[in-house]
Amino acid sequence: MPDWDYIFSERGKVFTDPHVDIEKIVDLFKENQVQKILDIGCGTGRHLIFLSKKGFEMYGFDASPKGISIAKQWLNEENLRAEIKYHKMEEPFPYPNNTFDAIISIKVIHHNRMKDILRTVGEIEKVLKKGGLIFITFPKLGETWKNDGYLQEIEKGTYLPQRGKEKGLVHHFFTLEEIQDVFKSFDLTEVYDDGKNHRAILGIKR
Ligand SMILES: C[S@@+](CC[C@H](N)C(=O)[O-])C[C@H]1O[C@@H](n2cnc3c(N)ncnc32)[C@H](O)[C@@H]1O
Repeated sequence: MPDWDYIFSERGKVFTDPHVDIEKIVDLFKENQVQKILDIGCGTGRHLIFLSKKGFEMYGFDASPKGISIAKQWLNEENLRAEIKYHKMEEPFPYPNNTFDAIISIKVIHHNRMKDILRTVGEIEKVLKKGGLIFITFPKLGETWKNDGYLQEIEKGTYLPQRGKEKGLVHHFFTLEEIQDVFKSFDLTEVYDDGKNHRAILGIKR
């Protein structure tokens, strides 16, 4: 079964430009005196690079050793620093409580069944400071992902695609109600379609 480690080994960086709304996020982070940011599932590092260049103190983890090695090399090439680790998001996070001012996770947390997504969100709640910010995106059913016979449902709202580069990789597609429920410890200031077949959420930890 292919996974992101295989995809990065075969195709390299895959993603290079940061999320389309990143400038808006940078402005928001600066207005809120954000310094330390964690990037969950940092992949090959496009947001570590972009946000380091903007002056933030960047931390990231990912379950793909290849992604991490590409990210480290990219940071070196740009003469930038970020602390990156191999780690699985469903396991207890390797940071003390109340460490980060903001947490981002772009196209990552849907790669699990709901019980593990809830663990990830529980860990986010622990390591994010009170009043800290989240910016998280995940795909939605629609144009890219259609439930037209090639998505095999393995639990409610969770599927294994039966073709394409992410064949066999777990995808959970959140309903709007689930978003409110899963992120109930946050004030969600925005829940919107980012125009790239993904939903984006912005929130503040209460
Ligand atoms: C679509 S890529 C996005 C990468 C990066 N966030 C970006 O926007 O460029 C999904 C990423 O999630 C990571 N990932 C998947 N399952 C994971 C898990 N259980 N724990 C940590 N990272 C995981 C993959 O290794 C991959 O880097």
